[in-house]
Amino acid sequence: MKFEKLGLSDKVLKSVKEAGFDEATPIQAEGIPPALERKDVLGLAQTGSGKTAAFTLPMLSLLEKGRARARMPRTLILEPTRELAAQVEEAFETLGKYHRLTIALLIGGVSFDEQNAKIDRGADVLIATPGRLLDHIERGKLMLHGIDIFVVDEADRMLDMGFIPDIERICKLLPITRQTLFFSATMPPEIKRITNQFLHNPVTVEVSKTSSTADTIEQKKVKTSSVPREKRADMRRLIDKMDGIKNAIIFANRKRTVGIIERSMKKHKYSAAALHGDMDQHSRMQTLKAFRDNEVTFLIASDVAARGLDIPDVSHIINFDVPVHAEDYVHRIGRTGRAGREGHAFMLVTDEETKAVKAIENLIGKEIEWFGDSLEKVEAEQPKQTGKPRNRKPKREAASEDRKPKRKQRGGRKREPSVYDDVGSVPDSSGFHEGNMPDFLSRPLTRVSSNKEA
Ligand SMILES: Nc1ncnc2c1ncn2[C@@H]1O[C@H](COP(=O)(O)OP(=O)(O)O)[C@@H](O)[C@H]1O
Ligand SMILES: [Mg+2]
Repeated sequence: MKFEKLGLSDKVLKSVKEAGFDEATPIQAEGIPPALERKDVLGLAQTGSGKTAAFTLPMLSLLEKGRARARMPRTLILEPTRELAAQVEEAFETLGKYHRLTIALLIGGVSFDEQNAKIDRGADVLIATPGRLLDHIERGKLMLHGIDIFVVDEADRMLDMGFIPDIERICKLLPITRQTLFFSATMPPEIKRITNQFLHNPVTVEVSKTSSTADTIEQKKVKTSSVPREKRADMRRLIDKMDGIKNAIIFANRKRTVGIIERSMKKHKYSAAALHGDMDQHSRMQTLKAFRDNEVTFLIASDVAARGLDIPDVSHIINFDVPVHAEDYVHRIGRTGRAGREGHAFMLVTDEETKAVKAIENLIGKEIEWFGDSLEKVEAEQPKQTGKPRNRKPKREAASEDRKPKRKQRGGRKREPSVYDDVGSVPDSSGFHEGNMPDFLSRPLTRVSSNKEA
């Protein structure tokens, strides 16, 4: 759908064109016209589907009329994290470059003074995290009764972070005549409840299943060891085998693991940096910038730190851990394959995580293919001999059921078998056959890392 057909102002259309957006994404095509008619909109669309512009563009058009008054902002956007708030500010700067609007960003970790100055001058757009906004209100510096448009973005993330009571408090301070635009990637019951409370006769725009993943993402799961250092070695081997890795986000479930992976990756001479909730604002922004500018190849992150980050061209996602909440999987891999681009998502899976994987597969409605072979088969089979010709095409007939299970790995410490047990050879009967063998497995490795651990 062309942007010209949506009823946006000329100024907005001009900046949209310059931003390089040719066609409106479905959430934009369906959500912008009712927003311009000042209706409440409930927008549900997966991560990376362009929700930011779905509210930014109609807001810009609507803000062309009228002007801001001191301490009474005209519009309010709530974001769950500082990074997301900063990204929305950037979107306003890019898309609103022909609108002389005052934008105030109210996020934690930044001094109140500068924020106060902007509020005092009169802000057209207030972009805030709930906690910091309430701080400003409590200091008596900010009044919300002039708000015409209220946006709740990334609502499911707000729920995860425990912000719903804050949002309810904020909502009570807003005039009931306001317009509300509400966006979420998923719709858990608690979010459903607050939409009934915040929105009046909303136009609901739901793009694809809320739990679906983009078709452009290649998804694979990889059998790994549950011994941490072996798991990290497995991940490095996986990375070394990956083709066309430009940059990747590595997700871990725990903050602590994020730190361990970062140190380990650096020790093994990978370009890596970590992003987690405990970092101060400045270092988070710096890390993110280094990653965007391709100075860092591997960004290691926890879910809290990473949801919704706008990093347009991540080629790979690596789930070092299977996420505990299935919905986090959707969010994690939504960082690749954005806006129709190709993406790759790999997930390391230990035996203990089989159940969590099933939950993810139920949620996304499909089975994720094994990279290599199924868990069962890998377990049944034992390490193959190395040194076979790399390009040898595995014979279909030699399917694993014909093979006698080999002897258990001998001697020493007991170790979980892994698909990497045969690094350097093409598995000849473990499931790769014409049509499903990843290309890069038939190419020589560019580097092989040592098994020694950090
Ligand atoms: N119409 C469009 N054409 C091309 N790229 C777009 C369009 N709309 C948004 N994008 C880009 O897609 C990416 C994801 O958008 P974003 O709004 O952050 O997604 P969401 O909030 O739905 O997760 C951003 O890099 C954004 O600039
Ligand atoms: Mg978003």
